[in-house]
Amino acid sequence: MASPDENPHVPGREHAVSLDAQDPLRHLRSEFLIPSKAQLKAKSLPKAESSDSSPDDASVYLCGNSLGLQPRLTSIRMQQYFSTWASQGVFGHFKPLDGSPLPTWLDADIRASEAIAPVVGAQVSEVAVMQTLTANLHFLLSAFYKPDINGRHKIIIENQAFPSDHFAAESQILHHNLDPSTSLVTIKPASLANSILTTEQIISVITEHASTTALILLPGIQYYTGQLLDIPTITDFAHSHSIFIIWDLAHAVGNVPLQLHDWNVDAAVWCSYKYLNSGPGAAGGFFVHENNSRVSTSEDGKKIFNNRLSGWWGSDKSSRFAMDNRFVPIPGAAGFQLSNPSILDITSLTASVEVFEKAGGMGPLREKSLKITAYLENLLWKMEAHSDKTFEIITPKEKEQRGAQLSLKLQPGLLDVVMKELEDRGVVVDERRPDVIRVAPAPLYNSFEDCWNFVGAFGEAVEVAIKAKNGEIEREGTKELEMTS
Ligand SMILES: Cc1ncc(COP(=O)(O)O)c(C=O)c1O
Repeated sequence: MASPDENPHVPGREHAVSLDAQDPLRHLRSEFLIPSKAQLKAKSLPKAESSDSSPDDASVYLCGNSLGLQPRLTSIRMQQYFSTWASQGVFGHFKPLDGSPLPTWLDADIRASEAIAPVVGAQVSEVAVMQTLTANLHFLLSAFYKPDINGRHKIIIENQAFPSDHFAAESQILHHNLDPSTSLVTIKPASLANSILTTEQIISVITEHASTTALILLPGIQYYTGQLLDIPTITDFAHSHSIFIIWDLAHAVGNVPLQLHDWNVDAAVWCSYKYLNSGPGAAGGFFVHENNSRVSTSEDGKKIFNNRLSGWWGSDKSSRFAMDNRFVPIPGAAGFQLSNPSILDITSLTASVEVFEKAGGMGPLREKSLKITAYLENLLWKMEAHSDKTFEIITPKEKEQRGAQLSLKLQPGLLDVVMKELEDRGVVVDERRPDVIRVAPAPLYNSFEDCWNFVGAFGEAVEVAIKAKNGEIEREGTKELEMTS
């Protein structure tokens, strides 16, 4: 397999450069800190002043599906938060400061909801920012998974669900003294060779188990294949059988446009360290449709609401400090909050979402995303057609069935060496065993030239891996990127 420069079937670098020149979002790349190749090889912490790469030495970072890059704004906003804490102590909770772009800490949660709501297509009152994806999933399951042993008790998930989702569903079933072997239904793809789940397959499993199913949990974008599921159609179908459905949007949020409110999604959870670029383990978020979080008052003054695991931050702001042990749920997603939020986390999240605002929101980002992923796919197809089928793209070809990520399935026995060779060339992607590498051009900071560079390095890496597999040369693999989420 030749690198793009040598391969007459692959458009040259100039084409990539000209596509970058026409990209209306190209200025956003400079909003991010892109690790240099030298930094990626270094074994010690860089000095703060050198924490930037020169354009010539920038790595090819196509791993935003796992961990997004750091926006420059993050450290500015963090510093402002540190200054507030240092200069105000506890007053930071309620004292607005002239010239500060940050809200008081008492208002930080609502400010974060205002920032994230347009990214997921929700009303502000339908979203909250807190905790991590799996923790939020448990909180929502505890509120909305109400198994009735004589009737509806099953949770439907996909067979290749992200392990944390599988564990969450299984443990909730056990928590209700039920048996996962009868209460957990997994949707399997038609064949092992094809891991794509069609909407028809999903609908047929829902139909089969409709009368005994209490809840469905599905991914907006499947982490392994990069497939974008038809969220509105599947949600409607679940509702036609009165089944509550929760969506795991880890790989969808900040990647594809979402209209959670208009699609009548019941509830959803996400993390913010992938396409949202808020930092490793940063605060996740969740959505609860307004229909599922209403609070009304009975004639004798009692609050009527769906019970949930509660904490004081979900209780009415005006009486929160009355300390009278009366839980008065805030209507909407905020009523599912538990604790006073980590301002460190929220500051990081809102800083990274500010960059989305600079992009003009998800519309322009999706436009670029469709182009840049199609460009990458095209380069890969051209290379693949002139190689010995050393890999195939398992992500759906249809643009409406995918986000930024392409998953490349390699011939058996190549993965470790390919990953090591890519790493040696300053290319960052991640792997899923046994044979898949995931490559995600993030439209906020990746360029068409990144994709072109990747394909060149990938071609070389595959060539080395084949020689190593055939025993012509000796090479060691790497296992490090297996550890990413
Ligand atoms: C699809 C999916 N679900 C759940 C998780 C778990 O997220 P967390 O560790 O934030 O709970 C991840 C993490 O990458 C994921 O990709």
